[in-house]
Amino acid sequence: MAPLPISSIRVGKIEDVQELIKSKPNKVPERFIRDANERGGLVSLKTHFHQPIPVIDLSELSKPHTNDDFVFEILKLSQACEDWGFFQVINHGLEVDVVDDIEKVAKEFFEMPLEEKQKYPLEPGTVQGYGQAFIFSEDQKLDWCNMFALGVHPPSIRNPKLWPSKPARFSESLKGYSKEMRKLCKRLLTYIAISLGLKKDRFEEMFGEAVQAVRMNYYPPCSSPDLVLGLSPHSDGSALTVLQQSKDSCVGLQILKDNTWVPVLPLPNALVINIGDTVEVLTNGKYKSVEHRAVTNRERERLTIVTFYAPNYEVEIEPMGELVDDETNPCKYRSYNHGDYSYHYVSNKLQGKKSLDFAKILN
Ligand code: OGA
Ligand code: NI
Repeated sequence: MAPLPISSIRVGKIEDVQELIKSKPNKVPERFIRDANERGGLVSLKTHFHQPIPVIDLSELSKPHTNDDFVFEILKLSQACEDWGFFQVINHGLEVDVVDDIEKVAKEFFEMPLEEKQKYPLEPGTVQGYGQAFIFSEDQKLDWCNMFALGVHPPSIRNPKLWPSKPARFSESLKGYSKEMRKLCKRLLTYIAISLGLKKDRFEEMFGEAVQAVRMNYYPPCSSPDLVLGLSPHSDGSALTVLQQSKDSCVGLQILKDNTWVPVLPLPNALVINIGDTVEVLTNGKYKSVEHRAVTNRERERLTIVTFYAPNYEVEIEPMGELVDDETNPCKYRSYNHGDYSYHYVSNKLQGKKSLDFAKILN
C-alpha cells in the first residue's frame, strides 16, 4: 500500500453489505449487479473437475538442502510458481494460537455495530481503513464485501488513527500475527530464490525494509451469488501474498487458469500463497502473478486475512539480470520505482492484470 493519494473523488453512496442484508436480506441493489460476462456464481463443470492448485509441504523444505526431499519440494515450488502463480502451504510451523487469534479478533471486528467500525473509515482514493477500496467513480460496480485494511510495516506507513481500540486485543493480535507473517514471507522468498537458482538472500537484499500490509475481507452471504462478485478480478501488486481463510470457510477464491476460473479449495491449517506483480517483473515473467477474484455464497459468510509483502518504496524494480537473455529471453518490463508502482496500483480500480501495463515493454 503506497503513500495515500489525496483526492476529492466522487464515489456515490457505498452501501455497507452487512447492513444491507440485515435490512433487506433478499435484495441485491443495482450497483452490485455485474454485467453478464463478469458474474461470479455460475461455475462450469469444467471448473469443478479442474486439477487443484499445488500444495507445498514446508516441513520438507526445512530439511538440509542436499536432501532429496528438499530438492523434490523445491522443484514442485518452481512448477507451482511457473504454472499457477498460486500454491497452498502446509506444515508451515505457525503457532495455532496466532492463526486462531487473528481470525477471532477479525470476526469480532466485523461483528461490531457499523458506528463503531465507521470510526476507522476508508476515505475515497485511499486504501487503509474500513469500507471498500479501489472505487473511483459513482457508476463503478461494487464488490459484495466489507474490507478492513491497514499498513503494518515499516511503522511509518501505519495510520494510528485507523488502528481500532475495539476489540481490545485487535492491535496486539495483529502485531503478533504480522511478525509471524513477515518471517514466513522472508522464508518463502529464500525458497523462491533457490528455486530460481539464485542465492537465497537475493530478494531480501534487494527489498530493503520490506513493506507489509494486511487486508481483512468479510464476504456476507448473498441471496443471488450468481449476480455479484465478492472481490473483482485482479492480480496483487505485492511481491508475495499470504491468504488465510477462516476455519469454517466455504470456497470463495478463484484463480484464472487456462481461461477458466478454478476454485481454491480450503485445506485445513493451510495458507494460500500467491506470486505478486513484483516477482513477475523481477523474474521477467517466469513466475506469474495470476489474476484471481472472490465469489460469494448463498448461505455462508466468508472471512479472509490477507498479508501483502513488498519491497521498500525506494527500491528500483526491473527483471533480474540472471533471468534475462537478449537472444532467447528478452527483457519484458521496464525499470521503475516500487513506490511509483504502488501509487499507480492503488489509484486505479481493480481490473484483472491491467496494472502491470505500467511496466510492460510492448513490442
Ligand atoms: C485480496 C484477495 C481473495 C479472497 O485480498 O487481494 O485476492 O478470497 N482476496 O479474499
Ligand atoms: Ni488478491
